[in-house]
Amino acid sequence: MQDNQAQADYWSSESGLKWIAFENELDLVFGAVDKALLDWSGPRPGERVLDIGCGTGATTRTFSTRIAPNGAISAVDISVPLLDHAQAHQAEDGVNIGYYLVDAQSGQIPGAPFDLVISRFGSMFFSDPAAAFANIRTHMRPGGRIVLAAWARAKGNPWFEVPKDAAVQRLGPLDQSDPNAPGPLGFQNVDHVVATLKKAGFQSVVGETIQVYLEHPGPVERVAALASNIGPAARILKKYNGSGDDIAEITRYVTANFQIFVGEKGVRIPASLNFFSAANP
Ligand SMILES: C[S@@+](CC[C@H](N)C(=O)[O-])C[C@H]1O[C@@H](n2cnc3c(N)ncnc32)[C@H](O)[C@@H]1O
Repeated sequence: MQDNQAQADYWSSESGLKWIAFENELDLVFGAVDKALLDWSGPRPGERVLDIGCGTGATTRTFSTRIAPNGAISAVDISVPLLDHAQAHQAEDGVNIGYYLVDAQSGQIPGAPFDLVISRFGSMFFSDPAAAFANIRTHMRPGGRIVLAAWARAKGNPWFEVPKDAAVQRLGPLDQSDPNAPGPLGFQNVDHVVATLKKAGFQSVVGETIQVYLEHPGPVERVAALASNIGPAARILKKYNGSGDDIAEITRYVTANFQIFVGEKGVRIPASLNFFSAANP
């Protein structure tokens, strides 16, 4: 786990643990991402699936129902507390899920060869993405497919841009010298990721920016708290050792700026995502 130790530390820290604290609401908001992943990847009963960077396992569980009764899914992550939490759901899962503490960039992944590899926001953190995808590819059967969901650039992505602006104004910027650096926005450049997947040996590589709506029944204050506690705001808060007052102020700013997304059915925020699909030769 040497190469990605900083990420392992981050995702096991207080910032990573927010994904447990806000688990139910994150899964609600990111339900549209799972739907797009299902549409793009078309999991079939009996398939063997790998979920990269499974976190608390919501996407793993969604896919597990699609490959039942004879399929199996391996879910890997580098954060012990997030994996432990995912595993705690196992009793209610009732299908063939294996959770494993593995750095997907370099580790051996149980359950191979996989027919399908998926990831919801879990594949943008590798220190060496080409090496990571080459390693992942060795775990796939010939003709196996991979589908990745990532964030498009922050500009025009209010879920990202608004809390980031609030945190930068309040505390200061993150170092953003390399737009492709590992992090939530690491796959914002579609051409760069397509080239990386090709370098890793994949073929039929497609990258596309798609639009979805992140939906939550509200109230908007709750959604603002969620967006202020994860993603770029969380990273800025961690860097500057932000206080409770800082979080409260960021959340107030985000609440005010999310008001335009409040409608009869709750909060509905447009989002731009980068989706990638490819095949193992
Ligand atoms: C943004 S979270 C997404 C979690 C989950 N897929 C979801 O959508 O709720 C990113 C996840 O990727 C994991 N991760 C980061 N680098 C990884 C690596 N090298 N190998 C395996 N997992 C990794 C993190 O620990 C974290 O759980």
